[in-house]
Amino acid sequence: MTARVFVARDAGAISVGADEVAAELVASGRRRGLDIDIMRTGSRGLYWAEPMIEVATAAGRVAYGPVAAKDIDGLLDAGLLDGKDHSLSLGPTEEIPWLKRQTRLTFARCGVVDPLSLSDYRAHGGGKGLERALSLGTEATLAEVEASGLRGRGGAGFPTGRKWRTVAEARAAQKYIACNADEGDSGTFADRMIMEGDPFVLIEGMAIAGFAVGADKGYVYLRSEYPHAAATFESALAEARKGGLLGDSIAGSGVTFDIELRIGAGSYVCGEETAMLESLEGKRGQVRARPPLPAHKGLFGQPTVVNNVVSLASTPFVLAEGGSAFADVGFGRSRGTIPIQIAGNVRYGGLFETGFGISLGEIVDEIGGGTRSGRPVRAVQVGGPLGAYIPRSLFDTPYDFEAFTAIDGLIGHGGIVVFDDTVDMRQQARFALEFCALESCGKCTPCRIGSTRGVELVDRLAGGADAAETVAILEDLCQTLKYGSLCALGGFTPYPVMSAVRYFPEDFGMERQPAAAGQ
Ligand SMILES: Cc1cc2nc3c(=O)[nH]c(=O)nc-3n(C[C@H](O)[C@H](O)[C@H](O)COP(=O)(O)O)c2cc1C
Ligand code: SF4
Repeated sequence: MTARVFVARDAGAISVGADEVAAELVASGRRRGLDIDIMRTGSRGLYWAEPMIEVATAAGRVAYGPVAAKDIDGLLDAGLLDGKDHSLSLGPTEEIPWLKRQTRLTFARCGVVDPLSLSDYRAHGGGKGLERALSLGTEATLAEVEASGLRGRGGAGFPTGRKWRTVAEARAAQKYIACNADEGDSGTFADRMIMEGDPFVLIEGMAIAGFAVGADKGYVYLRSEYPHAAATFESALAEARKGGLLGDSIAGSGVTFDIELRIGAGSYVCGEETAMLESLEGKRGQVRARPPLPAHKGLFGQPTVVNNVVSLASTPFVLAEGGSAFADVGFGRSRGTIPIQIAGNVRYGGLFETGFGISLGEIVDEIGGGTRSGRPVRAVQVGGPLGAYIPRSLFDTPYDFEAFTAIDGLIGHGGIVVFDDTVDMRQQARFALEFCALESCGKCTPCRIGSTRGVELVDRLAGGADAAETVAILEDLCQTLKYGSLCALGGFTPYPVMSAVRYFPEDFGMERQPAAAGQ
């Protein structure tokens, strides 16, 4: 009898040896005369357990990990193919507490299906959202997305339904869907996981968006650092055209929609939507002044929906199950689920999809399991390189757009990076300013010049300059950056810098203020 084993083909799993594990399974199986069928899937997002292998048993899939190629013989001896016990056993996959605790709506198929099999996609519920949208019509489709309360997962949290409606109501012969897959935030990998593990859900989401707003062409702007995602997505596009998910008559409806994949050239600011549009047009990736909004005048001057991968990939669920099914999950004005990407110095790093509202402390201490080094957690940077450094005293903050804005932070694209007590927060503040200087598109003075002046100020501190005086100048500079910058690169760089100063003043040679004591 053929035994089926699942091994991820996702870049994260490959980077820790998934290809070697799969090759050893083939070789060892052959030596033993075993009939093993290996299916390469996306990753479930349990990167702490990758390379994770799963075996299909009569009782469902059973998982083992992290597995090295040298473990394969021992695993086969122990009865791997029957799901038998071993020191690397994680038990039935769906019962692994780290996975069971999640609410998987957008990532439900990731790590489960063959990413390039349209029939496997459909067998696991794929395609239903588009079919329902086509049967509902454009107005009801827009209404479902509005009712879901979905807000952009790229960083700004803008309501997706409102954006779609603006483009739907714009009068133009040509409209576009531009998917932002630049995924530049530190510690983030949700977009990559979708594109490598369940690419058809993004294709379906883009087709729904195209139908809803009247766009027949979509572009995906992917960062050059993701070659595996590019290869998988390009193959998925070909399969989607063959299978009628893209083309002249999507899902047999007579509606036309197709997608082109474009690769960026390695620039963080090209993730900013207007810089991305410039880059897509073949120009230098420089931020455009707004208005006009991309929804009115976007790609090639036409009305354009710009959405993040996760935003678009969430819409097939919204349409298949109804906007209220999505809105039922969440917290406050942050509805639905968010794929939190836990990274840095953390024991259980990976992607954890859950409803908004979970506290930061739960994410770091319970789900992340504290630091990998075993030392105390000192700070967590939430929301990428423009996000604030949060001290333990704020760990009861609920994971929600408004709650993080209230503490001068942001949740960005859902990434969190954990640091232990060896971190030097002055170095982190310097890094934020240096990053801004390197990535600045150069259009406005506060960001272009101010970031470099900021690096110099931090260096002056390191050289023994008067702390109170130098930090006061740094604060003043941050105010200029915050209020004088054209886009959020310059505008939000003060978050990591000033949070480092506020919560960790001793690293800047300053006394802790009573308000900061205990933090
Ligand atoms: C400097 C900078 C970098 C950004 N990088 C990304 C990115 O990599 N991916 C992304 O989706 N949004 C990024 N954004 C946010 C986009 O400008 C935009 O808000 C988003 O793509 C809209 O999609 P959404 O509404 O689905 O979130 C960035 C913004 C700024 C200011
Ligand atoms: S803030 Fe920086 S990145 Fe943004 S427009 Fe100004 S110079 Fe460009």
